[in-house]
Amino acid sequence: MIASHPLLAMVGFLFHLVGIILAIVVPVAFSLLRLQFSTQAMNWMPVILGDKDSTDVWLGSSASSYKNVLKPYEESDLVWYPMTPGMGKPSFDGPECIKEVTSLQIGNYCDVQYVKMYNIFMGQLQGIAKMPRGFQIRATPVTMLAHLSFIATTSLVLVWLLRFREGLAFNSSNKIKIFNLHPLLTVIGFVLVDGEAIVTYKSIPGKQMSVKVVHLLLHLIALASGILGITAVFKFKKEAGLPNMYTLHSWLGISAISSFGLQYILGFFTYLFPGAEMHTRATLLPWHRFIGMAIFLLAVHTAETGLIQYFQFLGLFRSQEALIVNFTGLLLFLFAVFVGLSVILPRNY
Ligand code: HEM
Repeated sequence: MIASHPLLAMVGFLFHLVGIILAIVVPVAFSLLRLQFSTQAMNWMPVILGDKDSTDVWLGSSASSYKNVLKPYEESDLVWYPMTPGMGKPSFDGPECIKEVTSLQIGNYCDVQYVKMYNIFMGQLQGIAKMPRGFQIRATPVTMLAHLSFIATTSLVLVWLLRFREGLAFNSSNKIKIFNLHPLLTVIGFVLVDGEAIVTYKSIPGKQMSVKVVHLLLHLIALASGILGITAVFKFKKEAGLPNMYTLHSWLGISAISSFGLQYILGFFTYLFPGAEMHTRATLLPWHRFIGMAIFLLAVHTAETGLIQYFQFLGLFRSQEALIVNFTGLLLFLFAVFVGLSVILPRNY
């Protein structure tokens, strides 16, 4: 007979399969994809809290106990309403819209199944929504670590230049004293103070305006120190009769200080005086933060290359001084990590 023909049976099977895919797999896959890509949607999923206990759990407990209430609600006080094509229309406001389904008829079966599936699905969505996300720590402890590495790096640089090197001077017959101002002012004044200026928004509590002023002042100190530090090395090279700007370090250094100056001027005009319109400030803010971070990392990298260069110039090998120089480089890297982390962490979470 026709129906038992294997080809027709195969076609029937394929139709069945396509039907299943269209009816189940596609909507479920779509919902999961939507869930995956839409964090917004997850924030407002409904939860049914049937009694006071579950309300208390939801409002007062930690995320780990949410799973007790994040399950399909199937208590007897759950009432069912029929799904009708009139739902969602403003004209659907007659008595029929508050008519409960008292006994389940065979025709309501689909609605009930739908509601149950909806409940299960929502429960799972809420479970995902309440899963811990992000780093789960505040920026404050990380800014403390940044301050600690600031102090450690400053101490190492001072011990190095004052105890192991000849000391510091802007005018001296000992040219190395003039050069020594370069690492002092660039590492402490330029790199470290720049990092501290970046973390002000996370480390200083208080009004937005006062934090902004501290941010600006610290950046000004960093800019002035950077310029003075570079002036010192130019002066040293001129007096020692050495050529300028032939190393990668010197190119990175000039790029760092000039982009820093430019960013400072732009930031000043946009956010302080005269100050751009609200909309423009908001549009530029992510760029201001990103470029500021990029310049900071460029400065750290310049300092690291400077340390290597001076290490080789001095012909250091295994010695106490070599350890100090290398640890200065390591601490600078750690400082950059802590500054970077506190920028991406929230003040509170
Ligand atoms: C962000 C920090 C730094 C900046 C912006 C910077 C910038 C510069 C610039 C522009 C020069 C070129 C001077 C010239 O060619 O006349 C230079 C030279 C030099 N810097 Fe730095 N520097 C920094 C940190 C350091 C550090 C920490 C050291 C380690 C002691 C150092 C060691 C040197 C040395 C040895 C030279 C001479 C050789 C050369 O021209 O590359 N610098 N620096």
